[in-house]
Amino acid sequence: MIIPVFNSQIAVYQFDQMELYGPGTPFASKVDDYFNDEAWAGHKSAESEGKTITSVGRDRLRSLKKSLDFDTNTLGKWIDSTIMQGAYDIGLNPQEPFTLTRSWGNRMYQQASGRCHTHTRPGCHIVGVFYYEVPAQSADIVFVNNRTENVELSHYPESERFRVSPKPGMLICHSPWLVHGIDVHLSDQVRTCFIYEGTFLNMAIRTLREPQF
Ligand SMILES: [Fe+2]
Repeated sequence: MIIPVFNSQIAVYQFDQMELYGPGTPFASKVDDYFNDEAWAGHKSAESEGKTITSVGRDRLRSLKKSLDFDTNTLGKWIDSTIMQGAYDIGLNPQEPFTLTRSWGNRMYQQASGRCHTHTRPGCHIVGVFYYEVPAQSADIVFVNNRTENVELSHYPESERFRVSPKPGMLICHSPWLVHGIDVHLSDQVRTCFIYEGTFLNMAIRTLREPQF
């Protein structure tokens, strides 16, 4: 589903086999094992408030995809192909060779939140966020109609915010240029997502530094 968001648009999809991957499954144990790795101990995302375990920038220490068998299982393959579909659906050229360049996991605890940010590093053309665990009273992802980063969401009036409430199994694809933050996580259960960045290998270098949408 394509949803207009200010001067951009996001693509939202739903994985329909979450019962094979949710609580109590062998996959859930792999996810817990991944987040319990001491490699992430004390590592805090620059944009986050409260307790969030993040492996951002540390995939070389322990690969998210390898840890969760994402190169071989149905969920991993679905995420890969659906992000490619998302890039197509929001208007990028599907003919270009495409690759997912970075991936990491975020696990938020009660009262955690995320400051406003983009993903505009050179080479990032599309962002995909897969929501794995989303208990009731989870934090929304909130897109803002502004270019100011590294501020709290409360910096903006409600009229400049567009919120999306994730559900387990939801994948949201958005432009790297679309500023967004994460609301306060109110649940006492964790909120867990996997984040991907994708690149079109032959896209002109000029376009790497300018808004695509
Ligand atoms: Fe983000």
